[in-house]
Amino acid sequence: MEGNERKKVILSGIQPSGAFTLGNYVGAIRNWAKLQDEYDCLYMVADMHAITVKQEPAKLRRNTLDAYALLLACGIDAKESVLFIQSHVPAHARLNWLLACSTQYGELSRMTQFKDKSAKHPDDVNAGLFTYPVLMAADILAYNADLVPVGADQTQHLELARNIAQRFNHRYGDLFNLPDGYIAPKGAKIMSLADPTKKMSKSDENQNGVVYILDDKDTIMRKFRRAVTDSEACVRFAEGKDGINNLMTIYSVVTGKTNEEIEREFDGRGYGDLKTAVGEAVADHLAPLREEFSRIAADKAFLSENYVEGARRAAAIADRVTAKAYKKAGFVDPRG
Ligand code: TYM
Repeated sequence: MEGNERKKVILSGIQPSGAFTLGNYVGAIRNWAKLQDEYDCLYMVADMHAITVKQEPAKLRRNTLDAYALLLACGIDAKESVLFIQSHVPAHARLNWLLACSTQYGELSRMTQFKDKSAKHPDDVNAGLFTYPVLMAADILAYNADLVPVGADQTQHLELARNIAQRFNHRYGDLFNLPDGYIAPKGAKIMSLADPTKKMSKSDENQNGVVYILDDKDTIMRKFRRAVTDSEACVRFAEGKDGINNLMTIYSVVTGKTNEEIEREFDGRGYGDLKTAVGEAVADHLAPLREEFSRIAADKAFLSENYVEGARRAAAIADRVTAKAYKKAGFVDPRG
């Protein structure tokens, strides 16, 4: 990261709230791996975000380490990129406070994710759930990131991060870049196989619609075979064909085929053939990741070596930016 010419900086994160879905993979992680050559990338396991909904501590710890191992298995190179665990870098929480004081109650109340999650967990509408997007802004701004590769569901949070950065700069003088989203042209919103009008999400009650990247082949095939389609019986990408569009998108992403090629391949064939082909392509694509994951996750020493070094490299940047922000806000320099 110390080259002369400043490469663009990328930051993104994922919550360790259970196994990653095919949506997480297609919409985010797959792209993270690809961006590593061209950009200075920082990727993190967002464990602090995860506790905005109740977590069992032992499970959170295991999920966090598994998430870290899974990112390595998905091709994130901890030498090339900075791969770290959010709670290991105190600057995120420090900057969060400063930014919270530049964020309006009204802005946070408009966040659709907050509305969805508080409706889902009416017994635990905690302040952290409400201020979650401020912490996300701190994650991004602590590194002065230029680009944030995320799925389509994060665009509202990103827009807020830009507004917070802008307001801070206006109030205290220029410090933060205004980060742009990097939303992949294909697969930014993978839908549930059971209800293709809904985003594929780990918290979905109907788990038949959710494919996990650690699912075995039989499970993957079963879920795809049951995928909801339509009654037209023609494989084509078109408005109103949510189920088929979703299957074609997934197939296209894992095989590299275009929609036209897929339409030609399945010309005159039924949906059953398409479902089997997509299931197989996904299972084949994910098989090496699964193997790699079991190897890496078992090696605790290797994992800790990497996350300790990742936190050190991340903190070197985030501490510097946060110190500047504190100074601009008028806090006395703690070094005297
Ligand atoms: P999270 O953990 O919910 O999801 C991680 C990434 O996966 C994407 N994603 C999807 N993409 C396509 N189709 C889907 N069905 C699908 N489901 C999830 C998400 O858009 C996301 O990119 N707040 C973030 C984590 C975070 C973060 C950050 C991201 C914390 N700090 C700073 C960027 C920058 C979240 O909850 O993602």
